[in-house]
Amino acid sequence: MFSLGGAGDPPVLSADPSDGPGSGSERKGTARESGTARELRPRTPDRPLTTCSVVCSCYNVRVITLIVGTNRPGSNTRKIASHVEEIYAEERVPLRVLDLAKLPPEIFSPTSYAEKPDSFRPFSDAVLQSSGLVVVSPEYNGGVPGVLKYFIDMLKFPESFMDRPACFVGLAAGMWGALRPVEQLQAIFGYRNAFLYPNRVFLPNVGDLLDDAGRLTDPELLGRLKAQANGFVDFVERLKGIKLRGAKPS
Ligand SMILES: Cc1cc2nc3c(=O)[nH]c(=O)nc-3n(C[C@H](O)[C@H](O)[C@H](O)COP(=O)(O)O)c2cc1C
Repeated sequence: MFSLGGAGDPPVLSADPSDGPGSGSERKGTARESGTARELRPRTPDRPLTTCSVVCSCYNVRVITLIVGTNRPGSNTRKIASHVEEIYAEERVPLRVLDLAKLPPEIFSPTSYAEKPDSFRPFSDAVLQSSGLVVVSPEYNGGVPGVLKYFIDMLKFPESFMDRPACFVGLAAGMWGALRPVEQLQAIFGYRNAFLYPNRVFLPNVGDLLDDAGRLTDPELLGRLKAQANGFVDFVERLKGIKLRGAKPS
């Protein structure tokens, strides 16, 4: 288990000069197939999905990347993400954490649409070099936090989400438990041809769910997070033809 949040983390992929606005098949006007229309048979290294083998190295990586979907200091999202980290550790599944609170300030320059700062590379590479993505998102104003959508907009297109399994946890102060942002994220990731894991977890009235140490106390909710993680690992293993449990991060 390790965390990626600083500019000091080494880049793991070579730079792609075609990245940025106007790059990618759709932006050049080429139609893309729908994520839901494609076959969902398990894949193996000797029978890879063409698009995946072209645009990413999913078969060489065995790590789940968890995205903490806000940069608010002291956020409850980070506290819930800690539980998710622990659950993956119990399952002996390599997991890395991308905490949006640790995004480099340079990424917020308008020039970043055209040219990403080097300090963002560890973040974008951590998405590209992942077997699957877990997003933990709060609800802000009935939707996805602006910083999470901006982070998505900064990622390489189209390979960041293409054929990448994705799973969602939502939390909110309100009674709907972030249903709205999670469904917005499913629409965004679906648009970007991710493989959506259908079992979502919603945590309503989150302030009441956490004790003074910021820990979830309800065994029922912890059970839901565990069931989701277990199911998602199975989903990724079958889709990608890899073994995640007991794997060394690569
Ligand atoms: C800018 C902002 C907007 C928010 N909007 C909503 C909302 O629309 N619905 C809701 O249930 N909670 C809303 N909340 C409360 C969050 O859901 C709550 O803070 C929760 O702890 C998750 O966010 P956190 O990770 O920032 O702590 C909002 C919080 C902030 C900071």
